Amino acid sequence: MSYPRVASLKNGESFCRHLSESSIELPFDEEVQTGAESPLGRSLEVHGRTIGNRFCILPMEGWDGTSDGKPTDLTRRRWRNFGLSGAKLIWGGEAVAVRRDGRANPNQLMINEGNCGEIASLREELVSTHEEHFGDSSDLMIGLQLTHSGRYARPNDKKRPEPRVVQRNVVLDRRVGVEDDSAILTDDELSRLIDDFVAAAVLAERAGFTFVDVKHCHGYLGHELLAGVDRPGRFGGSFENRTRFLRDIVAGIKAATNEMNIGVRLSVFDFVPYCPGEDRIGIAEPGSEPRKTFGGNATGDGMDLAEPSRLIELMQEIGIRMVCTTAGSPYYNPHIQRPAFFPPSDGYQPPEDPLVGVSRQVAAVEQLKKQHPEMIFIGSGYTYLQDYLPNVGQAVVARGMADSIGLGRMVLSYPELPADVIGGRDWQRKKVCRTFSDCTTAPREGIVSGCYPLDPFYKKREERDLLKAAKARLQK
Ligand SMILES: Cc1cc2nc3c(=O)[nH]c(=O)nc-3n(C[C@H](O)[C@H](O)[C@H](O)COP(=O)(O)O)c2cc1C
Ligand code: SF4
Repeated sequence: MSYPRVASLKNGESFCRHLSESSIELPFDEEVQTGAESPLGRSLEVHGRTIGNRFCILPMEGWDGTSDGKPTDLTRRRWRNFGLSGAKLIWGGEAVAVRRDGRANPNQLMINEGNCGEIASLREELVSTHEEHFGDSSDLMIGLQLTHSGRYARPNDKKRPEPRVVQRNVVLDRRVGVEDDSAILTDDELSRLIDDFVAAAVLAERAGFTFVDVKHCHGYLGHELLAGVDRPGRFGGSFENRTRFLRDIVAGIKAATNEMNIGVRLSVFDFVPYCPGEDRIGIAEPGSEPRKTFGGNATGDGMDLAEPSRLIELMQEIGIRMVCTTAGSPYYNPHIQRPAFFPPSDGYQPPEDPLVGVSRQVAAVEQLKKQHPEMIFIGSGYTYLQDYLPNVGQAVVARGMADSIGLGRMVLSYPELPADVIGGRDWQRKKVCRTFSDCTTAPREGIVSGCYPLDPFYKKREERDLLKAAKARLQK
């Protein structure tokens, strides 16, 4: 590797020197401030409510629900950890399917009449844990992420893809076994699915959530629709048609709920699919089609934020105020989505210093925030910053480049990070996520997700041995 591990950069000065020598642009505050008036501790107003600070827990599923889509003890533990983190915005908890054929795995949570009570109790456990640690939950905002996994659906068997796609795609079809047009959802099927999203939002309101996220990221159905340039009919081709799914869901939710707010998790840019090249280093897969990337440019590995910016303008027009930003897809270009030193074992070696990936997401969000200052932007992909996450996070928020700092993997290994940073408590270096990617590799191998290397709870579980064996097999 031609770039250092972040853990080897022993202080802020050496971290910044590395950034400057590598021409990687990231803002950095030397001193991290603490307390309620600090940049990360300050509150935020949206939808007439207060969000108590600038940390947001990003959605992360654990592949650990029951076969009928209810939470298990593992799911509950994860949500309690979200509550004790101290973050005041919980973006979605995890992806929750609006119906069975849209599940990304047979253990994904699903919201329906039968499961609504259990999903409500998940939220309640998060709130009560938060109250036990911080007293007040009036400034805690919790949403539920609603999804249909589309191309990446595996509703019945972890090993059997059952893709429902928007349009044909040479490279991605090959990967999930789409051989003919029968996998394409018809316009009528999409109309029925819109009703399912609306019904799910009604249940989410009953379960006490303040907002639902109509998921449009990571290659799942909503995101693929945005890129459906070759699709004929009402949901494809023009920008207007490609955004119809979102517009109709939003209109349906507004009509069917009392005051449910709506947010969108959006891949604000995308690259073509990557694959291992020489020495397993990632390369753009030959034969890929750059025109089918939403927010990507004609090269296939660059951003063009013109359409994403237009979409955010549209969101504002239809009453959406919050965008949780992300990029690409964990399935076909994970290095732009969750930068890591150690890739998941079915992946490829990073083609760039993962800090470039962090900087790309930060820059994209900065650009969009400048264009849409009234929208609330949550940033993602910060975990790779490791010990310097608070310095960069604070600098981003203080300079108005984003409104809230999203935490994904870091919160699996170090749940108390937001409370430690804002409370000025000691930094727990041993808990810092080093991007080993076991939380991604495990589910790819049919094992529940969790931080096996650092979380004592997962370290002790028998799945750890299964994971070790699977990694050894894959590395041969
Ligand atoms: C184990 C795992 C599960 C995830 N599940 C979801 C999910 O259900 N919904 C979603 O929008 N993103 C999901 N993500 C992506 C994260 O929300 C986040 O965007 C990503 O990890 C990058 O942020 P980070 O650098 O802080 O980890 C998941 C990530 C991981 C590691
Ligand atoms: S398994 Fe733990 S250390 Fe590895 S990437 Fe996931 S959260 Fe980070």
